[in-house]
Amino acid sequence: MKYLIINADDFGYSKLFNKKILELIEKDFVSSTSVMVESINDDQNEQVLKLIELTKNHNVSVGLHVDFKSTDFDEEIKRQYDVFVDLFGFKPVHIDIHKSTYLQDGYPRIIEFSKENKIPCKNLGVEPFTEFMTKDIIFDGTNLDFSEIEKWFTTLKDGEYYTAIFHPGIYDPDSKSSFNEIREVDAKNIVKLNKIFDKHDVKLISYSDFIKKEEALKSIFNKTREFVKESFNRNDAQMRHFDRTAYWIKELKPDVDIAYLIAAIGHDIERAFKDAKKDFVNTKLSFRDEEFLKQHSEKGAEILGKFLEKEGANNKLINRVKHMVSKHELGGDEDQNLLKDADSLSFVENNGPIFLSKIEKLGYDRIKEKFDWMYNRITSEKAKEIGKPFYDKMMSELEKLK
Ligand SMILES: [Fe+2]
Ligand SMILES: [Fe+2]
Repeated sequence: MKYLIINADDFGYSKLFNKKILELIEKDFVSSTSVMVESINDDQNEQVLKLIELTKNHNVSVGLHVDFKSTDFDEEIKRQYDVFVDLFGFKPVHIDIHKSTYLQDGYPRIIEFSKENKIPCKNLGVEPFTEFMTKDIIFDGTNLDFSEIEKWFTTLKDGEYYTAIFHPGIYDPDSKSSFNEIREVDAKNIVKLNKIFDKHDVKLISYSDFIKKEEALKSIFNKTREFVKESFNRNDAQMRHFDRTAYWIKELKPDVDIAYLIAAIGHDIERAFKDAKKDFVNTKLSFRDEEFLKQHSEKGAEILGKFLEKEGANNKLINRVKHMVSKHELGGDEDQNLLKDADSLSFVENNGPIFLSKIEKLGYDRIKEKFDWMYNRITSEKAKEIGKPFYDKMMSELEKLK
């Protein structure tokens, strides 16, 4: 199943545009609309009330379509947000921008605002990219031939979330909108699109559904962290290594999704279930023993996978997490190397003292081998650069004990 939000842009621009948008919401053909609060006048009061009414019985999310009137971006956003709340009596469910004039300098401010207020915004291909937007850049269906829209439908991936925008309306001879004439085409295309949902296994959802999904994922992450913490007897030093692995993976790749963070927090879970006598520390095995590392990674993937399954995570998420954890020590593809690098960074940053406190038992050579291996296995240049000062510091601490 693929999930799609259809947003009707420009509610408030014209009474005739509003009329069509309301009709499409009433028939459940669109699941979202963005409002230009600056354009709404008393003439539209009834339509605003109608829209509020529709949110009660239809799965539709009403958002703010910021229309910059000046370049005081932050002030404009805040002011229009407040006007929205006054008008509707609820907060905008999502937020985006009208027209592309201020896309490069104004839109990043809207994205920041959406992060602060924890409301989704549209992915218009402008950074920063955040968890509050669908991963793909929005599909702009405005004024397209229907065949092009259907072609896009065939590219959608299972389990993913998408946003498509249109500018539906009825031709308004009094409106100066550049999209005026094509609004009726858009309205027709939206209806046609709804008719091919089944064929392409697509489900229409609203931004509220999107938020719910994000929250469910976040709760799976929190549950995983709790599971790890319990498994390691709430050991703070261990937790620090896992939390910092999650931190570094996001530093290395800012657009990582929850699967990476779950893999990072749980990557060493196997150690919590291992017979203590068989741990590296208590054997004479080299810390680089490949058989050992392989077993540690693969068993960890299995334990984590079973836990996620029990928590009702979807298969795709489970498989991605298992894939990363199963080779977090030796690396493999891009994702597996990313986790390995984040693990190494967290290690050189935090784990030195744990090993140094065991120097009597482990000996200088084995510890040096471990430190070297953890740093040298790093793949990316960026991670090497970040890790170097940590590595140097841990090595000089080790030298002092020689
Ligand atoms: Fe590990
Ligand atoms: Fe680790």
